[in-house]
Amino acid sequence: MSYPFKPFDISRSADYRRWREHKLADYPQQAAQLVVPVTDPAELDAHEAAAVLACCRKANMAIYRTTGTRAADKHAVRALGRRFGLERLDMNLRADEDSITSLRVVPAGVATHYIPYTDNAINWHTDGYYNRPQEQVRGIVMHCVRPAAGGGGNLLMDPEMVYLLLRDENPDWAAALMQPDAMTIPANIEDGVEIRPAQTGPVFSVENDTGSLHMRYTTRTRSIVWKDDRNIRLAVGFIRELLDSESPWIFRYRLQAGEGIICNNVLHGREAFEDAGDATRLLYRARYHDRMKGTEMTTVTDGLQ
Ligand SMILES: [Fe+2]
Repeated sequence: MSYPFKPFDISRSADYRRWREHKLADYPQQAAQLVVPVTDPAELDAHEAAAVLACCRKANMAIYRTTGTRAADKHAVRALGRRFGLERLDMNLRADEDSITSLRVVPAGVATHYIPYTDNAINWHTDGYYNRPQEQVRGIVMHCVRPAAGGGGNLLMDPEMVYLLLRDENPDWAAALMQPDAMTIPANIEDGVEIRPAQTGPVFSVENDTGSLHMRYTTRTRSIVWKDDRNIRLAVGFIRELLDSESPWIFRYRLQAGEGIICNNVLHGREAFEDAGDATRLLYRARYHDRMKGTEMTTVTDGLQ
């Protein structure tokens, strides 16, 4: 067809309905359905790569499980991302030199200001919601080297499902969160020095070139300023309640050693955990400015248009 397919355009309800039906068909019911066994994450064979991609085209995330004996290092994480077009790493304040972060409990120092380096729970968010618009995090690989002795499970939810449930509830709420000034993250100031400027942007946006949906979100209530708008308030309340619920669309999964998540920056949170003895939780995390190749809205909905 010659007309552009725009399911996330609030005025295109026919496109939305068609996309919605396609999205819900065979949507995974539980995290186990997202698991793809792979011999070596650094060198997926064609069958393994296809299985990962199929999960991500449907749910924007897959969980790979290493069945081989080679332990993955950061190079393996990099190679896995590359296989799916995740190339441009996000530079982050705390990343190790190679821009892949080792997430673990850091006993002292400045990093302890940041919850990821503690054993505390982390509330729902997408990564890099405080980044500049042109440096949004679109893809993530998170590889578990070692789980904690207890706890540390992840909560995961596909932003497209959040959008779908929100728009079904009230299309005006979905539209409100697409406003370019919906959400502002104030500047990050440490010891009087601004290390990150304030960032204002939408919660939901559509990538120009691929038509894909992108979400900036955090459940935090401090250090965030929502636009003073009734529909935004109601929409944010809806999302908060949804993420706090036992929704069947929320996946719960505790990564074991050699398992990891590859995703289009889906919403995620982490339970608190406890390290003990040698069971000290260690995850490698790579964030990219790229979305996984082959999961673009234009390719996923090819044939619907
Ligand atoms: Fe995160």
